[in-house]
Amino acid sequence: MRLLRRIAGEVLGPVKARHVWGRIDVVGDIALIKSPSIAWGSDPLSIEDYKRLARALLERIPYIRSVWLLRSPVSGEKLLREALHLAGEARSVTIYKEHGCEFEVDILKVFVTPRLNYEHRRIAELVSDGEVVVNMFAGAGLFSVIIACRRRATVYSIDISPDAYELMMRSVELNRNRLKGRVIPILGDAARVVESRLRGIANRVLMPYPRLALEYLPYALEALQGSGVIHVYIHVPAKRRSEARRAASTVVSRRLEELGRSFSIKGGRVVRPVGPTLYQVVVDAEVGG
Ligand SMILES: C[S@@+](CC[C@H](N)C(=O)[O-])C[C@H]1O[C@@H](n2cnc3c(N)ncnc32)[C@H](O)[C@@H]1O
Repeated sequence: MRLLRRIAGEVLGPVKARHVWGRIDVVGDIALIKSPSIAWGSDPLSIEDYKRLARALLERIPYIRSVWLLRSPVSGEKLLREALHLAGEARSVTIYKEHGCEFEVDILKVFVTPRLNYEHRRIAELVSDGEVVVNMFAGAGLFSVIIACRRRATVYSIDISPDAYELMMRSVELNRNRLKGRVIPILGDAARVVESRLRGIANRVLMPYPRLALEYLPYALEALQGSGVIHVYIHVPAKRRSEARRAASTVVSRRLEELGRSFSIKGGRVVRPVGPTLYQVVVDAEVGG
């Protein structure tokens, strides 16, 4: 992080660098610069600024082979990203490593960020051997594979995007010799998949997609074996990080009350800021039978 900050400062000067240095992620051998317009709606840097920064990253960080500018989150009907290749190899596929597991990812086709690194491990450590987990929004399967690498658990790993599903299958294959448990990739809409084949089977449900988590909460409840834990990821507006967790807990509690279920909030944390006054927060809710 410090090196990225220094390079950005030297190439762009302190004022422009401030808008961008904290928005550079390195995924495998690809550096991703997220345009501030994704969170702020405007971008004070020109394409030429980004290209100069990209060339400097390639020159000074030997393991970076390709640099891209991301101009939108993974979204829309096809769940693709708007991105511009800035420098280095014009390649969007890489191998990304986390917690001793390897993932094949295409940065244009699936959501992947090293900023979920801690959260992937936190959840894996909450899982016990023998659990059945449903991951409703699995992406390239990071939560699912990391859980199954650490625990003798069965993870049903759902994603609606055929690209994410393909990458998830590749990741299961890549980690085959490391898996203690099982990952079962499923292509489809999480609500339909739960209704048709995963009712009443899970001890734990992951909902790592803030856009749909509250709407799909009834299906997470349906997936549980009566009682169990649901990890609900939502975006909440808050002035300060310290307020965000409480706000998220209130929102999830109201929704569970609406759905008529007994529950207690066991934990949660601010996962990351996603805008000037917007936070991604996870709420861990234990639901009764
Ligand atoms: C934020 S990403 C998941 C990130 C991933 N869990 C990780 O740890 O990197 C959200 C995923 O939800 C998927 N998705 C969106 N709508 C869905 C739906 N209705 N059913 C299942 N998956 C869906 C998207 O294709 C995307 O891959």
